[in-house]
Amino acid sequence: MFASLFGVFFGLSCVCKDSSQSTLGPPLLFGPSVVLMGEVAEFTCELPTHPKNESILLQLYREDDRNKLLGEYTSLDGEVAVFPTVIQPHHKGNLECVAKAQNNSNMQPTVSKVLHLKVVEPVTGAEIDVVSGRSELFEGDSLEVRCIVSAGDPVSFKWLRNGGHIHHGALGNHLMIDRMTSEDGGSYMCVATNHFNETQVYTSNSSEVVITVKDVVSNPDISFTVVKDDSHNYFAMVTCQSSSGTPPVTFSLYNGTQLVANTTVEEGNAIFKVTLVLDTHMGWLQCQADNGYRVAYSPWIPLEVVSVGGPVRLHYDHDVGENYAVIGLRFYCQATKGSHPRYQWFLNKTRLHDRGIFYYIVHQPPERSILQLSVGKSIAGTYNCEVSDSFDNSTTITSRRWYLDREAVNRLPVPVVAAVFGCFTVLVLLVFIWCGLGVLLRRRTYVEETPLEMEAMVAACEGEMDWSDFSEDEEVVKAARAAELDQTSAASVED
Ligand SMILES: *[C@@H]1O[C@H](CO)[C@@H](O)[C@H](O)[C@H]1NC(C)=O
Ligand SMILES: *[C@@H]1O[C@H](CO)[C@@H](O)[C@H](O)[C@H]1NC(C)=O
Ligand SMILES: *[C@@H]1O[C@H](CO)[C@@H](O)[C@H](O)[C@H]1NC(C)=O
Ligand SMILES: *[C@@H]1O[C@H](CO)[C@@H](O)[C@H](O)[C@H]1NC(C)=O
Ligand SMILES: *[C@@H]1O[C@H](CO)[C@@H](O)[C@H](O)[C@H]1NC(C)=O
Ligand SMILES: *[C@@H]1O[C@H](CO)[C@@H](O)[C@H](O)[C@H]1NC(C)=O
Ligand SMILES: *[C@@H]1O[C@H](CO)[C@@H](O)[C@H](O)[C@H]1NC(C)=O
Ligand SMILES: *[C@@H]1O[C@H](CO)[C@@H](O)[C@H](O)[C@H]1NC(C)=O
Repeated sequence: MFASLFGVFFGLSCVCKDSSQSTLGPPLLFGPSVVLMGEVAEFTCELPTHPKNESILLQLYREDDRNKLLGEYTSLDGEVAVFPTVIQPHHKGNLECVAKAQNNSNMQPTVSKVLHLKVVEPVTGAEIDVVSGRSELFEGDSLEVRCIVSAGDPVSFKWLRNGGHIHHGALGNHLMIDRMTSEDGGSYMCVATNHFNETQVYTSNSSEVVITVKDVVSNPDISFTVVKDDSHNYFAMVTCQSSSGTPPVTFSLYNGTQLVANTTVEEGNAIFKVTLVLDTHMGWLQCQADNGYRVAYSPWIPLEVVSVGGPVRLHYDHDVGENYAVIGLRFYCQATKGSHPRYQWFLNKTRLHDRGIFYYIVHQPPERSILQLSVGKSIAGTYNCEVSDSFDNSTTITSRRWYLDREAVNRLPVPVVAAVFGCFTVLVLLVFIWCGLGVLLRRRTYVEETPLEMEAMVAACEGEMDWSDFSEDEEVVKAARAAELDQTSAASVED
């Protein structure tokens, strides 16, 4: 404080007395403006006019840091000060040279113009930092990565995915992708670059970081089949299956709110074995699937397996072509109950495959099965169906047997709806009479081929036949029924 006041006082007094003697001109500073880090650069500083018989101290500083002396030289007789400097990061910035008269406090120090120095540091040690944390993402997540370098200045960055340039979302050393899709997965790399004097280019490649984009598991489907083991226990094999979702997926089976079982699968579906009691409602089941993003739910299904029960109804209708000719005939087979029925069709006691020359079978479980016949040469024979549980064929229920032949089909009359209405009263009467007769007949005899009329009447009494069937098709079909077999369970005991 005192010194500066002293200086100011003397400075002022000197200006008043003799300005030419006591003033130093500003020194001139020269040097390169761009230097590579670590290289030796030379800066020079000189006074254009050196005061006689004065020792002048020339000092090199950074403009904003006078505490750190970068170089110093004493010029006695106007020599040029040379500062050979190994360039370090702290040399970057505005340099200046300060001239001071060493033994003459009358002379004010002077400062050169600044020399702007750019220090190029070759880039090294580029690495990717995953800002968003995880390298395993789900579709729709956002990704933020950063390229950090251990050294290098100034640096520009570019981003590569699987070797290809990424243009969108890159800003400075950041890369942001808002909504990841599966195409955004891959191997990421950043390339940090800088150059010196346009000719020397420095590059640092980061190591590759693999970003995976997982598919969120879709809502699973739930279904079950029933199996019976050797000890006559029943099980439901419950299948949980999601159509999409990157594995591993954890499937959990719930009975209401209660976890029954869980498992993690690497591929495909999960199958849970659940103990089963037939003909009992065992609760409501749901599958849940999770591959890390959120839980996906299946619908609820009841776990209830009803074994098949009779009677098994067999009825039919037909298609009429031109001239009222019958061209097709459909038999329908239906069990009274059963959630997992297996239907089988027989002609002359021989099982029919699903498709033959003149027929095909359409299973519509659990309600029914349809045997579709095209009327032709070889349809003659006795037809019936059988129903058993799909998981257990120890109980087999047989329908009535129907005899069909071509002549009967060809003799099909024009629909006689009017006649039916006209004769309705008569028919009702006949039905009641034949009901009685039919029951008597069934009790008395095993008739292989009952006349159709009677058979149909009996069927009508038992509620197994539609009135329309009866009225329209009575001449088409002759029933061949073994009364004992009809609607009774032929239970063969398993060993
Ligand atoms: C220079 O300074 C020295 C001592 O400070 C002195 O002896 C000498 O006479 C001076 N020379 C001139 C020319 O002023
Ligand atoms: C300047 O002063 C220093 C001490 O302050 C002395 O060592 C030096 O010899 C002096 N130089 C001249 C030229 O007077
Ligand atoms: C910088 O480039 C110029 C030409 O563009 C060249 O004359 C000079 O030698 C280069 N300096 C260095 C240090 O490479
Ligand atoms: C850096 O990556 C670029 C582009 O993939 C490649 O051309 C260059 O050779 C790599 N450099 C190093 C040092 O790995
Ligand atoms: C699977 O069940 C076990 C208990 O049985 C439980 O500890 C575990 O957390 C479950 N895992 C999942 C993914 O629900
Ligand atoms: C489901 O829960 C009900 C009642 O909690 C239980 O009676 C039933 O046996 C359970 N079913 C299964 C398959 O665990
Ligand atoms: C079935 O038996 C009948 C005689 O009852 C016979 O006419 C017919 O050809 C047989 N059909 C087949 C396919 O065996
Ligand atoms: C019952 O099913 C088993 C296996 O499904 C089969 O081997 C067997 O022949 C079937 N029995 C009858 C009478 O259909």
